[in-house]
Amino acid sequence: MTKNIPLFKVYMTQDIDNSLLDVLHSGYVGEGPKVAEFEKNLKKYFCNSHLVTLNNGTAGLHLAYHMALNQDKPKSWCNNNENEIITTPITCTATNTPIISNGAKIVWADVDPITGNIDPADIEQKITKYTKAIVMVHWGGTPCEIERINNIAKKYGIKTVEDGAHSIGMEYKGNKVGNHSDYTVISLQAIKHITSVDGGILMMRSEADYQRAKLLRWYGIDRTEHEGVDLRCELDVAEAGYKFHMNDVCAVIGNENFKHIDEIISLHRNNAAFYDSAFKSYDKIKCVPKCEDGQSAYWLYTIHVNNRDEVMKKLAECGIMSSKVHSRNDTHSMFREFYNADLPGVEQFNATHLCIPVGWWVSKEDREYIADCVIKYTK
Ligand SMILES: Cc1ncc(COP(=O)(O)O)c(C=O)c1O
Repeated sequence: MTKNIPLFKVYMTQDIDNSLLDVLHSGYVGEGPKVAEFEKNLKKYFCNSHLVTLNNGTAGLHLAYHMALNQDKPKSWCNNNENEIITTPITCTATNTPIISNGAKIVWADVDPITGNIDPADIEQKITKYTKAIVMVHWGGTPCEIERINNIAKKYGIKTVEDGAHSIGMEYKGNKVGNHSDYTVISLQAIKHITSVDGGILMMRSEADYQRAKLLRWYGIDRTEHEGVDLRCELDVAEAGYKFHMNDVCAVIGNENFKHIDEIISLHRNNAAFYDSAFKSYDKIKCVPKCEDGQSAYWLYTIHVNNRDEVMKKLAECGIMSSKVHSRNDTHSMFREFYNADLPGVEQFNATHLCIPVGWWVSKEDREYIADCVIKYTK
């Protein structure tokens, strides 16, 4: 039988139909009780009560950058084109486009050539008096050096943002993702471990940012009921916000899927552990080393092979989908003015990285077949 093993698959629990229909016919499909219930469960899971759901992860990044850039002037939108944010090009473009749409400059830092995660030493070299935030992306769900980066940020009075779009379920130094930096963003987009069709989560360190985020996700308007105030006719809006909130339809889907998070993460981890041992005696296949300070969520399993494009083609012929998933995005025309040729780690990572199927849908038989094919075609 011909194989057809996808790199990504949408996880949609079978139990969803009735709860979804209930919401659809409830007369309330906007941000309502289902969002509140989902947030309650998420706060418990992440052990962080400063959490808001949003309509996608990109909105979470936009809000995080907005708050980091406008700490002193919360009532105005950032338009100071001297502001800089240090970030990585080894990520989805969604990490970086909200930086320019917030009116800030991008400063690229280099990455580790194997993990793809941002290099703390290079971050420190790139800090200037204009730096307002540092962005870390946990490639594939494997933690960056979060503590070291936060220590650097603290030294210079800079905010930290974790783009944890790949990282629901990740742990670092004994705590779940979402408890280490000023802002952490999770994506609940279609092909993530857990989906709400589209959705995002923003977690924050401070109570003030949490209160601000609750306002900014809905135009800056306070949605809580106030006695004597006519519904929808707010008294005053102090800061212009966005339409970034989650709705009850997405929330009920996210909430039902979320009940399966532990089993999903553990299937990803088991498959990753299998590949770690299958590839360990092959010098030509380099794997991302196991994180000593935590546990990866293994949204991606990344290998490095010198004949990457050929391996990708051969795997496709074997019915196995593989991909780079994201390639460096500093070379896009939209980022031209920030280009920096001196990023050797980015160069190296980008030349050899390849992601192979690792998720909950990969059976024991599939993973053996995938490992055999990778070994066979790597040169
Ligand atoms: C690293 C990274 N950051 C941000 C995003 C954006 O998340 P969303 O699609 O939920 O807006 C993605 C993509 O899904 C991503 O992979």
